[in-house]
Amino acid sequence: MTLLELDNIQGYLIRGYAHMLYSRFVYLRITDAKATKAWLSNAWKEMTSAKHFHDKSKISSTHLNLSFTHDGLKALGLNEENLDAFSREFRQGMVAPHRSRLLGDMDGSSPENWNWGAPQNEPIHLCLMIFGNDKKFENNLEKDKDVCLNYYRELASEFEINGMKELFFIDGKTQPNNKEHFGFRDGISQPIIEGSGRVGDKDDVIKTGEFLFGYKNEFGVYPDTPLIVKDQGDLNLLSSDAGGSGLKDLGRDGTFMVMRQLDQDVKKFWSFMNENSINPDGTVNVEESLKLGAKFMGRWQNGAPITLFPDKDPGISSLVNDFGYAKFDKDGLKCPFGSHLRRQNPRDNVDDHGKKESLKLSKQHRIIRRARLYGEIYEGSPTNLTPNGEVGLLFVCFNADISRQFEFLQYTWSNLPKNKELYNDPDPIIGAREKLEAGEEQNFTIQDLPVSKTVKNIPRVITVKGGGYFFLPSINVLRYLSTI
Ligand code: HEM
Repeated sequence: MTLLELDNIQGYLIRGYAHMLYSRFVYLRITDAKATKAWLSNAWKEMTSAKHFHDKSKISSTHLNLSFTHDGLKALGLNEENLDAFSREFRQGMVAPHRSRLLGDMDGSSPENWNWGAPQNEPIHLCLMIFGNDKKFENNLEKDKDVCLNYYRELASEFEINGMKELFFIDGKTQPNNKEHFGFRDGISQPIIEGSGRVGDKDDVIKTGEFLFGYKNEFGVYPDTPLIVKDQGDLNLLSSDAGGSGLKDLGRDGTFMVMRQLDQDVKKFWSFMNENSINPDGTVNVEESLKLGAKFMGRWQNGAPITLFPDKDPGISSLVNDFGYAKFDKDGLKCPFGSHLRRQNPRDNVDDHGKKESLKLSKQHRIIRRARLYGEIYEGSPTNLTPNGEVGLLFVCFNADISRQFEFLQYTWSNLPKNKELYNDPDPIIGAREKLEAGEEQNFTIQDLPVSKTVKNIPRVITVKGGGYFFLPSINVLRYLSTI
């Protein structure tokens, strides 16, 4: 097993920075490439690497990471030939029309309604990710915010001189209990990158090349990495292609970052659960409503998987992840086949495949999720329906193959209404459509005996507000980019 060059990998890929409750994602445009490259020739040293976390006493109170769009690499001056070496999804971007259809970005979620990342918006070149934590206080959002924003102000005071214009920012928060706005604990199930030094269930250990260029993936081959096909810049700073082409590799120790701003309609989500679990006297049955919400998600609000705890929320003490469906729930009687969790990672029970083959298939479609909350912190529930203002998830995920990983999850496993014994059931959290054709149905099926139950006409509870595909280079490559 190859041990990873942790000091060359941007930290956010390997770590969620969960202790840093406050972050600011700053979206920038390059106005003067020469000045930006001069900045980059020092700024690469400031980037938080994955190695940073090996000595706990030295973990700093601010972290910084940086990613580029395809437009951004072009604005910096990367040759056309070298730009063309990137995968098609990254080159075309999230809003290419056929891609929007695939991702289900229609109606209110259509790019024409987006606030950023769409053709009508100013092109984004860079995303600077700034995190803060006040070490004197534990779990204090306001204190972490101060640290984060002080660092942001320091950096922002030099954007102009460094040839960059700030377009906008999104502030991302994390709750100490890691709950998202529908009130469910998030960030429990994550792949473990082979060679990263992290430990966990063997079924979660995924080949390095699924998440980093320059290493073999789950198919036993090197992912399609951007190679330098036309000499440019100081090539001594780059590693050679591990695939043996003899070319220099721009990708090694880097990956793609997918970002989607997903507005969450908490009221619509819990009102629907309440209406579909109402008492005969018309009052809300809180317990049944929570249970229905858990069936949609696949975990209870406190994070326990309903596969292992089908009857009631056992609380945080039962936060587990090393389970499969083949042994405990092959008929979906505990965790419905259509739930968000089971669709996103069917683990050892994919369609009619056996356990071993299923695990192999699931491992070919994993992503590393790094979502943050935006808007006011709010924990939705059957009795907590109305947050203050817009709230949502700034969904961030990492993968080396956008098409086979993120896009496959969003299209094949979420938006397609046909899935393992299901015919009209999209993913109830991220796959439901806003408008249906006459005669079409959109349901959620709960497998049960003697007959399954169908919850009819599930609503769309998220609206996409913006998004983009970014390249998260290695730290060496950031340095190289300053020389092109
Ligand atoms: C607002 C939108 C979303 C919400 C509220 C949400 C919520 C959740 C929650 C509560 C969990 C369970 C926690 C865990 O197992 O870590 C989860 C798991 C997961 N979600 Fe989402 N999610 C959203 C969007 C997405 C998107 C866009 C994708 C990918 C296309 C996605 C993929 C996953 C995956 C892969 C898992 C882990 C499944 C597993 O390994 O068992 N989610 N999500």
